[in-house]
Amino acid sequence: IEVMLQPTPALTWVSTGGILDLYIFLGPDAQSVIRQYLQVIGYPMMPPYWSLGFHLCRWGYTTTNTTWNVAQRMHNANFPMDVQWNDLDYADKRRVFTFDPWRFGDLPEMVEEFHKRGMKYILILDPGISTTSPPGTYRPFDDGLKRDVFIKNATGQILIGKVWPGPTAFPDFTNSETRQWWEDCIRDFHSRVPVDGLWIDMNEPANFVQGSLEGCPDSDIENPPYTPRVVGGQLNSGTLCMSAQQKLSTHYNLHNIYGLTEAYATHSALMKVRGKRPFVLSRSSYPGIGRFSGVWTGDVRSDWEQLRYSIPAVLQFSMFGVPLVGADICGFGGNTTEELCVRWMQLGAFYPFMRNHNDKPNLALQPYVFGQKAQAAMRSALNIRYSLLPFLYTLFHHAHTSAETVARPLFVEFPTDPSCQIIDRQFLWGSSLLISPVLEQGAEELAVYLPPGTWYSLYNGQPFHSKGQYLLLPAPLDTINVHVREGHILPQQEPALTTTASRSNPFFLTVALSAGGWAWGHLFWDDGDSLDTYEMGNYCYVTFIAGQVEKTQVVCICILKKPVYKIMYLNPVVIYLSLCLFPQVLTVTSLALPMSQVFTVQWVL
Ligand SMILES: *[C@@H]1O[C@H](CO)[C@@H](O)[C@H](O)[C@H]1NC(C)=O
Ligand SMILES: *[C@@H]1O[C@H](CO)[C@@H](O)[C@H](O)[C@H]1NC(C)=O
Ligand SMILES: *[C@@H]1O[C@H](CO)[C@@H](O)[C@H](O)[C@H]1NC(C)=O
Repeated sequence: IEVMLQPTPALTWVSTGGILDLYIFLGPDAQSVIRQYLQVIGYPMMPPYWSLGFHLCRWGYTTTNTTWNVAQRMHNANFPMDVQWNDLDYADKRRVFTFDPWRFGDLPEMVEEFHKRGMKYILILDPGISTTSPPGTYRPFDDGLKRDVFIKNATGQILIGKVWPGPTAFPDFTNSETRQWWEDCIRDFHSRVPVDGLWIDMNEPANFVQGSLEGCPDSDIENPPYTPRVVGGQLNSGTLCMSAQQKLSTHYNLHNIYGLTEAYATHSALMKVRGKRPFVLSRSSYPGIGRFSGVWTGDVRSDWEQLRYSIPAVLQFSMFGVPLVGADICGFGGNTTEELCVRWMQLGAFYPFMRNHNDKPNLALQPYVFGQKAQAAMRSALNIRYSLLPFLYTLFHHAHTSAETVARPLFVEFPTDPSCQIIDRQFLWGSSLLISPVLEQGAEELAVYLPPGTWYSLYNGQPFHSKGQYLLLPAPLDTINVHVREGHILPQQEPALTTTASRSNPFFLTVALSAGGWAWGHLFWDDGDSLDTYEMGNYCYVTFIAGQVEKTQVVCICILKKPVYKIMYLNPVVIYLSLCLFPQVLTVTSLALPMSQVFTVQWVL
């Protein structure tokens, strides 16, 4: 399908044919359109809590030793990180469901070590199954042949294409026997290497030859009367023949949902094999994939333009029902610079899915390779993200249960503010946190649009009263501008080097009072990776309300270490105020109240 944007404004659609179901969602506002659309394609899955932590990957961690040392150096340099990844380096002759006996011989032990540290491990899993191993030596192919799971060519033999391991066959995930075989392959591999999630790449499906090693027949569905401007100029360029046969129909009809069907099969296999909430990350996407998988935006380049484009890309997937989305931080292709990588880590700390990933030939991107100042800026961005994870997790709960967006365009939250309609350099988390990253080389200040109302700096509580205007704010290399919207309460937790550790740290609340002196917020909390906790009722949902009981405005006078306020909790306890820069900031610490019980904190003048 080719879609052209007309200035009128209007859209022109040109399709080669095939199956086209057209729905029109009437809204009236953007959030309603998104909800109506998700009512058709399905609400997104609830991701495991750990998957909201930091992920580190690279093509080119060539041994377990290298991989382990990367994680170790991250740890030693105090960078929060939950998940270490490997690209195809791990596989024996690049064949999936194997691991290289020499370079990755102790992969199972390494994964166990990560688990002991409270970390997780993920590796890449491509769909192409190598067809050239001697019979009896590569079970995924031998079994797959017996169980007839592969896509056929027009004359009914297995279609052979070429991907990383050389000649490969492609599983047909529209066949239930294939899904069962895929689950068996994953179960068998998981019994040797207890991975925590799977990264399904190359699932467009990508093919290094056109159609198949034998080419494709010259037919109408390979060469329809009109071909949209696809890469390579033909429908079968870089993928399978359109005449290839799958259980459900021809590949022509099913091509666009190959990744979706693989994501469904992988999600369901992981759920059965691990008995926990699955994590799947897919490159190919299609409406509905958010029920099974997160998505990353593919092989982006290390440059400022791609840094900027990553915001609309992430926001689009939000609207497509895929809230768990991010771009490869610091860029996948080409060499980054230190400044670009710092700015990208700062923005990436606010991608719903946060992974730093790199191509083989490039200079390293791991945070610890940079200078001390750059490292400090990256560490600070990571700590802010980790402190906000209870809030982020709650937003994912709202996405899962109410089709709300996690990363949210300003026009969705402020539909009547015309200034918001064109903003693609800032975005929100939910309705209450405004993220304004630096996207230009050398910039030290930033024009930040603040929708009407009061916005507070997340870092020091400085209030900004906006009539709906751009403000020029300082944006030195060590800072990303983040503002809390008046009337909102963010549940937070002290950060730690993993979510396993941070989840047992004390909570705290950031309360941004409205002009009328009130605020509210929510926390969804469960064990973080059991299946269906919401559906089974195994969770806790807390609502926080701040309101004014007294007539007087709440004014905080900052006096260091002098008991000026009384806080009433069961029996009144005296608390100490810490020094603050702005008069609206009241910091109450060390209350040690259980989150799961009703409590009231009251302060009096
Ligand atoms: C593993 O890495 C460590 C630290 O870089 C190095 O000292 C050691 O020789 C490596 N071991 C192997 C087997 O390569
Ligand atoms: C199907 O595959 C077989 C075996 O590779 C090959 O001989 C045959 O020509 C292929 N048919 C088509 C239509 O490509
Ligand atoms: C990246 O840097 C490395 C090391 O300096 C260099 O060999 C390589 O050519 C650079 N890559 C590009 C695309 O410039």
